Amino acid sequence: MEEKVILLTGGTGYIGSHILLELLKDSKYNNHTLVVVDNLSNSNLKNFSRLIRKLDFQKQRVKFHQINLATESDRLEKEIFCCYHVEAIIHLAGLKSVKESIQEPLMYYQNNVVGTLNLLALVKKYCYATPIRFIFSSSATVYGEGCLLPIKEDARKLGGYDRSSGSGPINPYGRTKLILEEILRDLVIEQGSIWKITILRYFNPIGADPNGLVVEDPTGIPENLIPYVVKVIRGELPELNVFGNNYSTPDGTCIRDYIHVVDLAKAHLAALKYDQLSNLEIFNIGTGTGYSVLEVISEFKKLGYSVPWKFAARRPGDSPQVYADSSRAELLLDWKAELGLTEMCRDSIRG
Ligand code: UD1
Repeated sequence: MEEKVILLTGGTGYIGSHILLELLKDSKYNNHTLVVVDNLSNSNLKNFSRLIRKLDFQKQRVKFHQINLATESDRLEKEIFCCYHVEAIIHLAGLKSVKESIQEPLMYYQNNVVGTLNLLALVKKYCYATPIRFIFSSSATVYGEGCLLPIKEDARKLGGYDRSSGSGPINPYGRTKLILEEILRDLVIEQGSIWKITILRYFNPIGADPNGLVVEDPTGIPENLIPYVVKVIRGELPELNVFGNNYSTPDGTCIRDYIHVVDLAKAHLAALKYDQLSNLEIFNIGTGTGYSVLEVISEFKKLGYSVPWKFAARRPGDSPQVYADSSRAELLLDWKAELGLTEMCRDSIRG
């Protein structure tokens, strides 16, 4: 029997490791080889190997290849596409810091856009016999500012310059995601029969595996709220700066749609199983509920953690409120976020 292979790019990172964990736990994928490609630029092979040892011992279903998609296309071809019959791809590999993308736009376009183009060229060369499932990790950042709430997928339509809803991405990182979404759309128009593409627009993933199997361990000072709060709770940073106190929200601080990373990981498995309506589908992946920064702090307090904080100036580019309408994913993928803010905060500390 031909080996069934799922390729997971960026599979050693925070989200990728949680997806791998779900794939290993799901009996439907017992006979699959899970091939992880990652350049390890933002992840830790030690944590990843620990996860594999615990879950995949002796079965050797997980294969790891340290490859940079943007610069090592030849190795990607020889080591992956020439060796495995890839049935589905979950493509997460990419840089993700907004701040860094403003400072180093070329690096972001090179890494995210060129890396994906190299991957897509090989998919087209080797996988044309069957429609290939390609799940792309996108972001709510493609909506930009000024969308109607809750945000529906059609607030950012592909294939045009419809500015009637949101502003579109406001930084190079977000633009790499939108450019890639547009490229995927063009591929489907060119040759729909080879593709089954699902774009997942993530809202704000937080938390970690409740059993502590996957550890998020950002180096340096985190930019995102929850990793920063965790470092404050652990005493590694003195206090949280709450960016802005006079936004047009009930308590004046920004509201976001936080989603437990385990729920997010499960959305990828739902997308893998989904018998698509069309060759390109787009889904918001959030909970549909927004929480303010002060509500998040208060949730940690309820769990018994002290979070010293103070108000600071607004962070440029922050929208007052962002939360998803995820009803399309619920209806078509039969997926819904199950874990609430309490679990998200509890598991962020555990990770
Ligand atoms: C940020 C990115 C977004 C990216 C997303 C997911 C920006 C402008 N946006 O979104 O493109 O897709 O992360 O990783 O960077 N906050 C504080 N103090 C802090 C950190 C954050 O008050 O030290 C506030 C922010 O102002 C915001 C909320 O917490 O209101 C959440 O911030 P963050 O975790 O960075 O997520 P986003 O702003 O949604």
